[in-house]
Amino acid sequence: MGCFPCFESEEEAQLSHGNECDRTREERPMVAPRVEKLSSGDDRMKTARDLSTKRESLGAIEGSDFSISAQTFTFSELSAATSNFRTESLLGEGGFGRVYKGRLETTGQVVAVKQLDRNGLQGNREFLVEVLMLSLLHHPNLVNLIGYCADGDQRLLVYEYMPLGSLEDHLHDFPPDKEPLDWNTRMKIAAGAAKGLEYLHDKANPPVIYRDLKSSNILLDKGFHPKLSDFGLAKLGPVGDKSHVSTRVMGTYGYCAPEYAMTGQLTVKSDVYSFGVVLLELITGRKAVESTKSHSEQNLVSWETLVLFYLQCLSGFYFHKQQSGI
Ligand SMILES: Nc1ncnc2c1ncn2[C@@H]1O[C@H](COP(=O)(O)OP(=O)(O)OP(=O)(O)O)[C@@H](O)[C@H]1O
Ligand SMILES: [Mg+2]
Repeated sequence: MGCFPCFESEEEAQLSHGNECDRTREERPMVAPRVEKLSSGDDRMKTARDLSTKRESLGAIEGSDFSISAQTFTFSELSAATSNFRTESLLGEGGFGRVYKGRLETTGQVVAVKQLDRNGLQGNREFLVEVLMLSLLHHPNLVNLIGYCADGDQRLLVYEYMPLGSLEDHLHDFPPDKEPLDWNTRMKIAAGAAKGLEYLHDKANPPVIYRDLKSSNILLDKGFHPKLSDFGLAKLGPVGDKSHVSTRVMGTYGYCAPEYAMTGQLTVKSDVYSFGVVLLELITGRKAVESTKSHSEQNLVSWETLVLFYLQCLSGFYFHKQQSGI
């Protein structure tokens, strides 16, 4: 059995006392993570030290050789790779910062470079967790981290490039000339995402709770092969006779399990709830949250529950009609 005891830091345990007010936040992060402010000068060395300290406190995931396979890059290498982060190379933007398409000069490999927005809410802590998690966890349905850059106050992550973008790009707001995904492709994506999740929950020991499953974090390789991305919020699951881990409530509104949002008690089931929301998105083509719709239709899960309730009532009514010969 692997041991991975100290990842839930005292710092986080203290922060979890803030749950009462954190709960009311809706946007990701539901709670702004505390950005560890690096001083100056030897930031890069400090990050390297941070990584090794975190790594030591992590222990080991069973079956992992625990080496950080990710390469380190200088800022100028990544600047060159993305033609100075030009707008034409922009693939998208999220809470962490912008993502650019690039080509590494040394190997010619096409990559996606995510640059931490230094004014953003998500920060160094997520950066460290992402590098460590993706260095330890390897599966065909998890995105591959090629390397990272911690040059001065710059924080960048270098991933394998996923040519078909995110599942969100294919489900919502796509141009009218683009064909919607067919049923088999939708099911293939759901099955692949479930395999990635199964690896995190059942093969990694102790289990890893992803905490950020949503359609924008399911990236698509050629042939619509899905890979889970963004591990900055991932947590180690409970060990021994513990039923949950207590954390600050983080995640994305619409995907976050209500019992976790209410109590801050996290289990692998929180990910299963988010998976259910993605499955509903795949089946219905609707967004997890649609703020433009009427109040009762805004949240996909509540809307779906309402629809199912009406369908049940309707089938009950027809059954009764048949039985009574009306
Ligand atoms: N490895 C990659 N290959 C190709 N495109 C990518 C890659 N990583 C991210 N992208 C693109 O960049 C977009 C932004 O990704 P990012 O993970 O920064 O934000 P997000 O998941 O949309 O939002 P959030 O930060 O709230 O989770 C994605 O939707 C996707 O289109
Ligand atoms: Mg993402």
